Amino acid sequence: MVSRQSQKSTNSARSRLFPYRPPNDYKERNRARSGDPLAKSGKQIKTLPIYVLNGPTLNLLGTREPEIYGRTTLPEIRNLVAERADHHGFKIVFRQSNHEGDLIDWIQEARVKGCGVILNGAAYTHTSIAIYDALKALAKPIIEVHLSNPHAREPFRHRSFVSKAATGVIVGLGAQGYLSAVDAMAALVKGKP
Ligand code: DQA
Repeated sequence: MVSRQSQKSTNSARSRLFPYRPPNDYKERNRARSGDPLAKSGKQIKTLPIYVLNGPTLNLLGTREPEIYGRTTLPEIRNLVAERADHHGFKIVFRQSNHEGDLIDWIQEARVKGCGVILNGAAYTHTSIAIYDALKALAKPIIEVHLSNPHAREPFRHRSFVSKAATGVIVGLGAQGYLSAVDAMAALVKGKP
């Protein structure tokens, strides 16, 4: 039996750890899924996918500067991410583009069709106010990921416009960083640490 007081302190510890509050529609979907009588209607509501977006030159992973970015290719990362997301009960939308506008269009698409965005903006991270503005308009959790640790590299990589809009940032862990991002995103969307 959990007392009200201890439930309250667990909740406040949770909100200190994860200040992002999941939108009510996620809670509603969960209710519908679990057959909770509080579900508004009898119909099944699907959980929105996690958008995983990748910027310029990440299509060359595996052969591009492997001493910095590793040997795992982007399709391999995609498969690992899909598997990890599935483990948490999520689908993914996984995309890569060398064009800034594509990334902006996909971030805007995620406002309606996604539950959150995991973004490796690659070089646009350090230059794009347009991507920053799109992220600010998202109102969903955002995890910034980099395979390398930009802070330990050239000074022009130390500034990130994405970080200013991100809920959390994961750098320097290679492909593993994408999987940690999926774990964090699932917890954020479900409202659980
Ligand atoms: C990167 C780091 C960026 O500075 C760089 O421009 C990239 C890849 C990374 O994943 O480590 O293209 O985002």
